[in-house]
Amino acid sequence: MQNELAHRLARLRTALGSHQIDAALVGPSADFRYLTGHPASESERLTVLVVPREGECTLLVPELESPKFTDFPFGRLDRWRDGDDPIDLLARRLLDLDARTIGVNDEFRAGFLLPLQERLTGRRFARISPLIQELRIVKSPAELSLLREAIARVDAAWARFCAEGRLVGRTERQVARQLSEFLLEEGLDEVAFCIVASGPNAASPHHEPGDRIIQDGDPVVIDIGGPYQGYYADMTRTPVAGTIRDPDFAVAYEAVLEAQQAAFAAMRPGVPCEEIDRIARDVLATHGLAEAFTHRLGHGLGLSVHEPPYLVRGNRAPLRPGMVVTDEPGVYLAGRWGVRIEDVVVITEEGTERLTRSPHDLLALP
Ligand code: GLY
Ligand code: MN
Ligand code: MN
Repeated sequence: MQNELAHRLARLRTALGSHQIDAALVGPSADFRYLTGHPASESERLTVLVVPREGECTLLVPELESPKFTDFPFGRLDRWRDGDDPIDLLARRLLDLDARTIGVNDEFRAGFLLPLQERLTGRRFARISPLIQELRIVKSPAELSLLREAIARVDAAWARFCAEGRLVGRTERQVARQLSEFLLEEGLDEVAFCIVASGPNAASPHHEPGDRIIQDGDPVVIDIGGPYQGYYADMTRTPVAGTIRDPDFAVAYEAVLEAQQAAFAAMRPGVPCEEIDRIARDVLATHGLAEAFTHRLGHGLGLSVHEPPYLVRGNRAPLRPGMVVTDEPGVYLAGRWGVRIEDVVVITEEGTERLTRSPHDLLALP
């Protein structure tokens, strides 16, 4: 791991050099975890990794958080105490480094950035998240094995739910609670999201589970996931509660599955991300359902649940081996129901590998 962290840091420094950025500030975020190997809590107290283009890094942390970081291998661990002015400490460090152009990641809070800018007049500030995202976009073998672990755990939790779970007569919240228990028992670090959207609620792609009692015949969009050692799984299935009653739903389900499979079949290195999105959309158009597909086809997955590459209109970037993306077309009919089927796929030298193993067939659960 230490070698991999050193390699990531070296690549960031090369990127800073080619963009004439003298030092990077990385606040608590997936970027921070990627570069330090540690999660950090986002809070009103300043925690920041300072990466100069050359020379040692500084990890500036609140003293009470510092025991977690004592093994920081790439430079100084500077602690500040409640009552100190951490912005002043950070500004002085940047003055010592003579940083004229300062890169800032997206999660470095405005509440810290604006006072820092006031303190360091005449310096240029630049957004560096795109540079770090470019480092993170292709997964290493070690990252891929953690993603596989996360996804296998979600598959296992879903298999348990299909065997033991009930939908009809239970509230969305009750179902979400049971699924969340299964996800934790299978070993996810936490449940990051657990969408249970029944009947007309399923027409809202990111519905929050509520007190609606699931009725016989309801399609139920279930979108579950969370991290394993920081790396995210994300999967959606749309079973029907009880008996399938609406023939339009069964037709739409098959159309979404066809779109999903067509997108999967088209994924390989070199194909532009937007092309994969278009292929899924074209399949739905042949079924008269294009308007009902209201979001992008997919997103990258890693230390964040949504990260580049995005499979979306306008993204001409080609797929590359080692990228990990979701394939998640959906159809949403307001007032009626919705359907989404979501898998995670890794792009390989030869084409693709589907990491999600849960079956796709339309399922009726009691
Ligand atoms: N669940 C679809 C998206 O957020 O892209
Ligand atoms: Mn999802
Ligand atoms: Mn997703």
